[in-house]
Amino acid sequence: MNLIFATNNRHKLTEVNQILGGTIHLTTLAECGITEDIPETSPTIEGNALQKARYVWERTGRNCFADDTGLEVDALDGAPGVHSARYATDGHDFEANVTLLLRNLEGVECRSAQFRTVVALIVDGREYIFEGVVRGRITCERHGEGGFGYDPVFVPDGEELTFAEMTPEAKNAISHRGRAMACLAEWLAENK
Ligand code: IMP
Repeated sequence: MNLIFATNNRHKLTEVNQILGGTIHLTTLAECGITEDIPETSPTIEGNALQKARYVWERTGRNCFADDTGLEVDALDGAPGVHSARYATDGHDFEANVTLLLRNLEGVECRSAQFRTVVALIVDGREYIFEGVVRGRITCERHGEGGFGYDPVFVPDGEELTFAEMTPEAKNAISHRGRAMACLAEWLAENK
């Protein structure tokens, strides 16, 4: 089965290929001639995932999906949430985002948080939504070199290591994106 994955984020593409690899062939945006940044202007994670998938569907008429993720920190009332990519700056500056997050949590004891991924799938013009959540906590400093984004400061519940210290397989087995993609894969297996 062939699906366009509406992302320009190579980290995500690698992860999703590892998760879905073998069952679904992912076509990249570049391969179907979409080189511009897809607008993400919705105030919600769900809205952004749908906005990206619709953008691709409207231009290609091909089955596609998009994902959007937010890190929701309880002590910050759910921030950075939908603003996770642009928390500190206008660009996707992972370093600056983590630095700002750690600064905003300085001296804060309650460090619980969750990653939430929403996947929007469009098949033959019909829209479907899947969600994956992983609960955990924000560390006081960075640990590990793997992964991307907030991975060096997020320890999932029941684990000792940050996502950045885990192997890709260990992260994917319990991560927000892994869980959302597993729902997507299950739906595709049952319906396509
Ligand atoms: P996106 O909109 O799905 O690209 O995600 C928004 C931001 O959330 C990214 O720029 C990253 O900073 C962060 N993020 C998304 N997924 C992950 C992850 O798996 N680990 C750590 N940070 C992530």
